Amino acid sequence: MSTTHDTTPYGAFPGTRPRRLRVNPAMRRLVSETRLHPAELILPAFVAEGVSEPLPLASMPGVVQHTRDSLRKAAVEAVEAGVGAIMLYGVPEESKKDAIGSPGTDPDGILQVALRDVRSEVGDDLIVMSDLCLDEHTDHGHCGVLDAEGRVDNDATLERYAEMARVQADAGAHVLGTSGMMDGQVGVARAALDGIGRQDVSILAYTAKYASAFYGPFREAVASSLKGDRKTYQQDPANAREALRELALDLAEGADMVMVKPALPYLDILRRIADETDVPVAAYQVSGEYSMVEAAAANGWIDRDRAIMETLTSVRRAGAGMILTYWATEVAQWLNRGDRG
Ligand code: PBG
Repeated sequence: MSTTHDTTPYGAFPGTRPRRLRVNPAMRRLVSETRLHPAELILPAFVAEGVSEPLPLASMPGVVQHTRDSLRKAAVEAVEAGVGAIMLYGVPEESKKDAIGSPGTDPDGILQVALRDVRSEVGDDLIVMSDLCLDEHTDHGHCGVLDAEGRVDNDATLERYAEMARVQADAGAHVLGTSGMMDGQVGVARAALDGIGRQDVSILAYTAKYASAFYGPFREAVASSLKGDRKTYQQDPANAREALRELALDLAEGADMVMVKPALPYLDILRRIADETDVPVAAYQVSGEYSMVEAAAANGWIDRDRAIMETLTSVRRAGAGMILTYWATEVAQWLNRGDRG
């Protein structure tokens, strides 16, 4: 029985040495399979009604609720960095929220005002997306309207979504993000757009949107009134095949692009959807994913910039062609300078 340190099952020394291709940064760059580009990053941004200063969010260090003015500036900064798109969320004044989410369909509601502001600032240099969901606008915080028993009423909600689709298109959205997880929402939004001659506006379906704890900080960001949870409409984290069923439905209803959300805990879902469909696939690195990295970095427990690049690269590698991330502008600036990654 002989043991020796300098042999392997294949011979005295390894003939194949993967380390040769990791020898220096230039070699690693050359053989890299996955590259991030600013154009595929999408910046989610919050705009609050009736505020005079941007409001920093305690649970998302570095992210603010914008004023109309600071939002315009953030949009211009995104364009200058080469970011591909911006996704807008409106935060109406508390007193304007009601059971049916009226600010969401008011042409002068904060989201519509912000869409017009941003479009007038950036034109077609930046793709402008809007959140087609009621939760920011309702006083109960659910993504739809409630029936007499307090349950989210799917079909009554669809009527509200149709109206939202029309006002968001009128306000200048290039893309509507259907994030409410109601059955039939993509088809209803498509029909509503086509009904007013807006065949040019596309739909990004939140195809696999899970009932996730990682949305926690977002609820502060939009001053959500939600009590309880969204488990009767968002997907169960235990299920993967259900995501493929949602994909088939969204495509049949006319989705132009599909999304998986959150990103990092659902890379398997992202891979399966990317393999299954030929439409563009996005992933949403959500608020909790952002805050975890920022919190750990603030404590000196991880290297912030490396962690950001690693998470985004992994999401890209798993099959996302586009990534929504609160770091979009900062990362685009790094990529332009070529000093990270
Ligand atoms: C719903 C919506 C949510 C997020 C985006 N759109 C919240 C939810 O479903 O509870 C979460 C995004 C994030 O956490 O960054 N309009």
